[in-house]
Amino acid sequence: MKNVDFRSDTVTRPTPEMMAAMSSAELGDDVLGHDPTVQALEGEGAALLGKDAALYMPSGTMCNLVAFLTHTRPGDQVIVEQWSHTACFEGGGAGMFAGVLVRTLPSESGMLDAADVAGWMLPRSEHSPGTSLVSLEQTHNFHGGRVLPLEGMQAVAEAAGSRGARLHLDGARLFNAVAASGVPAAAYADVADSVSICLSKGLCAPVGSLLAGDSDFIEAARYHRKRLGGGMRQSGVIAAAGRVALASMRERLAQDHERAARLASGVAALDGFSVDASRVETNILFVGTGRVEAAEIVSAAGTEGILLYATAEHAIRFVTHHDVDDDAVDRLLTLLARFAGSTDTNGSV
Ligand SMILES: Cc1ncc(COP(=O)(O)O)c(C=O)c1O
Repeated sequence: MKNVDFRSDTVTRPTPEMMAAMSSAELGDDVLGHDPTVQALEGEGAALLGKDAALYMPSGTMCNLVAFLTHTRPGDQVIVEQWSHTACFEGGGAGMFAGVLVRTLPSESGMLDAADVAGWMLPRSEHSPGTSLVSLEQTHNFHGGRVLPLEGMQAVAEAAGSRGARLHLDGARLFNAVAASGVPAAAYADVADSVSICLSKGLCAPVGSLLAGDSDFIEAARYHRKRLGGGMRQSGVIAAAGRVALASMRERLAQDHERAARLASGVAALDGFSVDASRVETNILFVGTGRVEAAEIVSAAGTEGILLYATAEHAIRFVTHHDVDDDAVDRLLTLLARFAGSTDTNGSV
């Protein structure tokens, strides 16, 4: 039986259309500004996001770091949500390379509270660092793929902007938010001074992310990308897959959301497991495993070719994506049912 991988949407493989586009891509040296495929991708990404320009980078992590470097000066404060990818999963790069103080604030579902943000923006003085940037994450990964409401984002943008700070949007899964809410990508992007999107997650490109903003911002960002070693030469070969991702893979994200919702309601019906199915809006769900150790389930699943990721002793994160079909969801639910109602740690019912 073929392996199915629920660990992340980062495991998606390029589609046949992407492979064909990659093998026939027109190439040049992008560091010298001569790769037509990269330029086309950057133009298409910028247009979709309603921004002047965009810059192609190897990863979402580099996009966030370059945004931080471009918007801030060392010693500034940047405000982020406490479970944001930037705060938790980017190796502390913002502190190390941008030299900023990363202020993490808690939230109910990934959406920072505007009054809270305003309250933590202490006036720059000999005692307090000024805040030059606030960063939001759409959708919010570790809050279970929650969609940040546009009005909440606007309120945070207003709190930041009126106090002289910029807003960055880590939109690694922005198109999941678009598919779930019907709000256009450009409307979300319009709230922010800069926005990053990943082509490599649900959109299935093998590599790559875009950072978009106004022309001056992107010109400055290009310099920081180069300093970090992110200038890529004949990168049109991967950008070609990114163009297919943007053109033809956004619409289908709704299918991933339907499968995540079906998985959530199936899990909710299993005794001993906990998930709030009403909070599953996109392709990510966190499930409590009750008395059973998550590692035990992960190990049993692994022997059946179902790859899972335990996020805590009693929690597993499931992510649906292009390579997870209905049959994969059924296989996972059948496996979990074996642990339902378990009162010991052996997985026996
Ligand atoms: C919300 C979010 N932002 C940024 C990233 C970083 O992307 P990359 O793995 O391409 O560096 C991820 C990766 O999973 C993510 O979930």
